[in-house]
Order: sequence, then structure tokens, then C-alpha cells
Amino acid sequence: MSSKSAEAKPQQNKPPQKTFTLTNDETGESVQLPVLEGTCGPPVIDVRKLYAQTGHFTFDPSFTSTGSCKSRLTFIDGEEGILMHRGYDIAALAGKSTFIEVAYLLLYGNLPPKKDLQSFNDSITYHTMVHEQIHYFFRGFRRDAHPMAIMCGMVGGLSAFYHDSLDIWDPLQRETSAHRLIAKMPTLAAMTYKYALGQPFMYPRNDLSYAENFLYMCFAVPAEPYEVNPVLARAMDRIFILHADHEQNASTSTVRLAGSSQANPFACVASGIASLWGPAHGGANQAVLEMLEEIGSKENIPEFLEKAKDKDDPFRLMGFGHRVYKNHDPRATVLRESCHEVLEDLGVNDPLLELAMELERIALEDEYFIERKLFPNVDFYSGIILKAMGFPDSMFTVLFALARTVGWVSQWKEMMEEPSLRIGRPRQLYTGPAARPYVPIEERE
Ligand code: CMC
Repeated sequence: MSSKSAEAKPQQNKPPQKTFTLTNDETGESVQLPVLEGTCGPPVIDVRKLYAQTGHFTFDPSFTSTGSCKSRLTFIDGEEGILMHRGYDIAALAGKSTFIEVAYLLLYGNLPPKKDLQSFNDSITYHTMVHEQIHYFFRGFRRDAHPMAIMCGMVGGLSAFYHDSLDIWDPLQRETSAHRLIAKMPTLAAMTYKYALGQPFMYPRNDLSYAENFLYMCFAVPAEPYEVNPVLARAMDRIFILHADHEQNASTSTVRLAGSSQANPFACVASGIASLWGPAHGGANQAVLEMLEEIGSKENIPEFLEKAKDKDDPFRLMGFGHRVYKNHDPRATVLRESCHEVLEDLGVNDPLLELAMELERIALEDEYFIERKLFPNVDFYSGIILKAMGFPDSMFTVLFALARTVGWVSQWKEMMEEPSLRIGRPRQLYTGPAARPYVPIEERE
């Protein structure tokens, strides 16, 4: 098949529909496919009628050229290193907004006026406690379970507790579920941490901000007073903002696909958590720290870089590279600064940070990484800050999931509001045996 762009005849008062012509080289037959244009980003060829018109499917197993939905939430320009939520640049949001404001922005489309921010914040704090029975649910897990394993189970399990917000066709119930998920994730994440330590669960405190309350639930104990360090609370809030949403990545696409079957939002978010867990996605922040510890000292960097470049070695430089960013990840740029602030405030002199900076410097000068446009991503620095704050490696991806819940529920809400919602059902290129006669057991060799 060959292809070329074409313009259809102009209709009265309407801009002409742009089309893309696809020609079958064997038969010479052509089809004109509509070209759709968003506010920003490359145009897309609408292939929804392709099979009906040509008898062909498209083939794009890792979705490198496929838009799976329309969305008004987040835009990424990977070539320029730009990330925007509802049109606002991520650096402005991370510098000037709070996570609660960004959550409102993603859910409702605009930055909240003062009174709406107050009532949204009240609604989130109203829902921070979890059903008391959930405390017993935790006790079924081993104390050494990976926190992400617990989170998959606990978040899916929420659908067994909140029956009054499971009607996905009722906009009010959808909103209640979205608020519940945003509100309860810090509580569940902190409980997961406390459970591994064998310390009592701390109930949420609604007089604290979202990030302060999370730090309180993680690091306070009932035996003594706990004061939240404002520098850490600000850094935590910023980490949440930077992880809030990221367009149609693996976990968000998983949430949307699960939601397209009309599954309840708690189950959908649990599926997102499962997808985020992998080291190629949210699990990379834990993997970065493990990698830095394995490298150990600056002298070993060249050896590990060679391993990363060797196609026969599965080792990759964790925290480097991105499917979409072919430039600096703007989230990493903000986190790099935060990292220094936090370490300075805590008086931590972390040799891993120095090692990370040296690794970044050497990799960015290396021909292999330059050619492939591999830059540090958000996970490269987040692990170092979280470690300095006192979180163990195994909690890093949980914190990512906590923040990304805002994106997941916003994307789910957007999808559910779409009148043309249909179940997602990809097709395939079948490469197994063609039809063959059944062989009775006596005749099999
Ligand atoms: N170390 C060494 N080589 C790499 C790396 C890396 N981290 N990332 C990509 N490459 C090479 C890859 O081998 C390939 O080389 P070649 O063209 O010679 O075959 C080329 O760069 C293109 O890579 P790709 O595998 O086609 O890229 P992808 O879009 O399929 O994968 C990625 C993206 C993020 C999974 C990958 O870069 C990676 O595994 N990075 C390390 C894990 C990581 O940091 N993940 C966090 C992503 S950001 C947080 C999030 O959004 O979840």
C-alpha cells in the first residue's frame, strides 16, 4: 500500500474535511480517511471505518502510532519536553499550585476559584477515613508483602465497602467514587507502610493539608507528638503534582480499558496500580535506587554504561529514556531542584545523589544516549528524595500510584462522560496454525 495526503472538495460554510488517501498497491483501490486535528500535537488519521472499507486492520502492538481516545486533560510534546495539564505548564503548576488544586483542575477542567477549592478540599478531607473493617482486611497479608501487592488488593477491595457509589451511570456517584479514591489513597498507602513496620495505623487528620496528612500518617506514632516539616510537606506535594497525570500511558490506558467494560472505578484503579507496578513504568523509581546501590561508586559507572549499551545484556539504565520524551523530561527538571532543597534541609549528604549526578553527566555526553535521545526521566530523582524523607524503596511506586490516582479517576470520569462510550476491543494479527482437522489421541505421534 502507498499513501498520500489529499484535500476533499470544500462544503458550504464548513472548512473542508482533511483526508488521507490510502491506496492498495495490489488492486489500485483507494480510500479516503478523515484526518482529525486536536488543539495541539500531530493530526490523527481516523481509521475507525478502515476495516469496513478495506477489510484490513491496522497493526501497532505497542501503540507507537496510535491514539486510543480523545482527551482534554493532558498534553505532552515529547520533542520539546513540554507537559501541560488543561493548558497549564507543569513547571508553573509545580511551582505555584497545590496538589489539591491540580486534582481539581484535572477533574473539572479549570483552576478552582477560592470557594470551590474550599468545598473540594472539604469533600476530600471528609472522605479520608476508611471503613474500620478494612483494618482487618490488612491483617490477611504477610508483613513482608510488597506494598504494591497490598495496594492492588486493598484498592480493588474498596468496591466491597462503598456500595453507595458504584452506579457508574449516575454522575453524582461517579464523583463520590472519584473523591473517595483521591481521599483514601494516602490513608491506604500509609497503612501499608505502617503494616510492614508493625506500627499502629494512624487515623487521618483533617486539619492538615493533603501532603502533611500523608506524612503524618506515615511517620507519626501515637506515643508522641509529631510536627510535619514544611519543607518536606512542600516537596511531597510537588512530587504528587509531578506524578498526577501523564496522558495515555500504560496504567492510564489500563484504567480506561477496564472502565470501558463498565467495571466500577475502584476495580479500574486497582488495574491501573497493577500496570504501574512494572519496572518499565512506575516501578522504575525503586529500580533506580537499586541500580545506584549496585553501581556503588563513580569508578564503576563506565562498566554499567557498557552493560546498558550491550544488546545481549538485559540491563538498562533505569530512570533513563521515555517512550514520548525525546528531550528532557520536564518533571525531572523540577525534581532535580527539589532533590537538592530537601537534602539540604535535612542535612543529608547522600553519596547516591552524587553518584546519580555523575551518572547523568556521563550518560548525557555518551554517543549512545545522545543518538537515541535518552534523558533522565521523572523516576531518576524521585527515589533519592523519597529515600531522604525516610521512605523505603518498596514504597516509592506506592507514592506514584497515590498521586496518579488523580489522573486515573479524571481520565475515567472523562471517558464515562463520553456519550459514544464503547468497550475497548483491540484486534490482532493471528500467526498461529490455520484451521486443521482434529486428531484423535490414538492417531497422535
Ligand atoms: N538504557 C539503555 N538503553 C535504552 C534505555 C535505557 N534506559 N531506554 C531505551 N534504550 C535504547 C533501546 O535499547 C533502544 O535502542 P536501539 O534503538 O538500539 O534498539 C532505543 O533506546 C529506543 O528504546 P525503546 O526500547 O524502543 O524505547 P521504548 O519507548 O520502548 O521504552 C522505556 C521506553 C521508558 C520503557 C525505556 O526507555 C526504559 O526501559 N527505560 C528504563 C526504565 C524507566 O526509567 N522507566 C520509567 C519511565 S518514566 C515514568 C513513567 O512514565 O512510568
